[in-house]
Amino acid sequence: MATRIGIGLLGLGTVGAGVATILTSPEGRHPLIAELDLVRVAVRDLNRSRPVAIPQEKLTTDPEAVVDDPEVQVVVEVMGGIEPARTLIMRAIAAGKSVVTANKAVIARHGEEIASAAAAAGVYVLIEAAVGGGIPIIEPLKQSLGSNRINRVSGIINGTTNYILSRMADEGADYFAVLKDAQDLGYAEADPAADVEGHDAADKIAILSGLAFGGPIDRDAIPTSGISNLQSKDVDYATQLGYGVKLLAIAERIESSSDASPALPLAVRVQPTLVPKEHPLAGVHGVNNAILVEGDPVGRVMFYGPGAGSGPTASAVVADILNIAGIRQLNAAPGGLDPLLAASSWRACRLVQGGEIRQRNYVRFNTDDAPGVIGRIGSCFGDQQVSIQSIVQFDASDEGAEIVVITHEVSSGAMQKALSAITALPEVRLLASHLGCL
Ligand code: NAP
Ligand code: HSE
Repeated sequence: MATRIGIGLLGLGTVGAGVATILTSPEGRHPLIAELDLVRVAVRDLNRSRPVAIPQEKLTTDPEAVVDDPEVQVVVEVMGGIEPARTLIMRAIAAGKSVVTANKAVIARHGEEIASAAAAAGVYVLIEAAVGGGIPIIEPLKQSLGSNRINRVSGIINGTTNYILSRMADEGADYFAVLKDAQDLGYAEADPAADVEGHDAADKIAILSGLAFGGPIDRDAIPTSGISNLQSKDVDYATQLGYGVKLLAIAERIESSSDASPALPLAVRVQPTLVPKEHPLAGVHGVNNAILVEGDPVGRVMFYGPGAGSGPTASAVVADILNIAGIRQLNAAPGGLDPLLAASSWRACRLVQGGEIRQRNYVRFNTDDAPGVIGRIGSCFGDQQVSIQSIVQFDASDEGAEIVVITHEVSSGAMQKALSAITALPEVRLLASHLGCL
């Protein structure tokens, strides 16, 4: 026999309003949704107009009152930010309430603490909406791909930046105008610097890495660069060379010779990256995200769909609520192993030093238009065993030349040494850009 489940919502913004819309229109959806009661909702501004009608008496500016409400059994945290979100999540757990959150910033930094508390309290903390918006990626990594030895997780995991890059490439749209559109559409974080500087993608790859490789990593040590300094010239040159430019997040296990630590060595980074036109990630446009998981024995699996926005993110949030509701309806024993903890703490992992990361590179130099400069640049790369895939001169004139080099896969350490030697050449005026390349 079904029992009604009280939901307390912390936040009624882009995601919260999407969740409330689903909960208040259960017709034609999973029958358990009709058993979910939206009991109380915390907001900052009681007078703000909302896209979904919620009775005024359910609204409060006191989020603790929502968590503490005895009618609330599941707390849904969609307010964002680190605090008070972290404290409210811990308060809900301490009160024996399961939590659903879309808050990757909190989970990337405090996931272990939260998961341990949840396991001790015998409640669930589900985070499907924290990565990939509407794409199911968390539960597949925890469950459906659980038998695999995962070697690599990579992809486009920020909708705002993919939307901006797509519109700049397709329409030549202005960066700031498109960023404003992304904010208006509800894709961007409250502070969009988190999107365009790559920090949101770094939060998400930290979470995916923990699930894929079995242990947390130091979120703040992930090398991160975003798209705010990306120049349209590089996008143009990349296009001429047969590539698109995407903000990629990559986490992969590597062989490391640097120490005898038993911890699994991982190379993790976020950076604008050239993607060959025929690569599956090159066809991911607009707000869509795509995550490639490479495992043994499954091979390569790609998850694709809308990575941000009200409806897609609410879809993932409500799916997590349904999971918890389903467990309760089945009367599963409380105190079962927390799924987040179970998937993310069975092994020690460590980030390798930046110099050990191996990748292909795209670099652009401003140089004098002088005879022999390409040869001297090539020699500097050769001296560090950096193999060049292509070297092209663009825009040679009296004003100078632009030389673009794409390398084969090399260690970042060797690449840095070669770049130091090149920028010391008298004909080389500037290392104008350095991007990754698939
Ligand atoms: P948002 O539109 O800014 O909504 C935040 C909501 O929280 C607002 O309703 C706000 O109230 C309320 N709030 C904030 N601080 C509060 C406080 N101290 N007390 C009471 N209420 C408070 O944010 P969002 O885009 O929905 O994002 C919410 C979370 O989901 C974030 O963690 C974000 O990273 C994550 N997320 C967002 C998306 C997306 O596409 N937007 C996708 C995946 C995950 P007022 O409305 O009164 O201001
Ligand atoms: N700001 C985030 C993005 C929301 O654009 O991807 C989804 O997590």
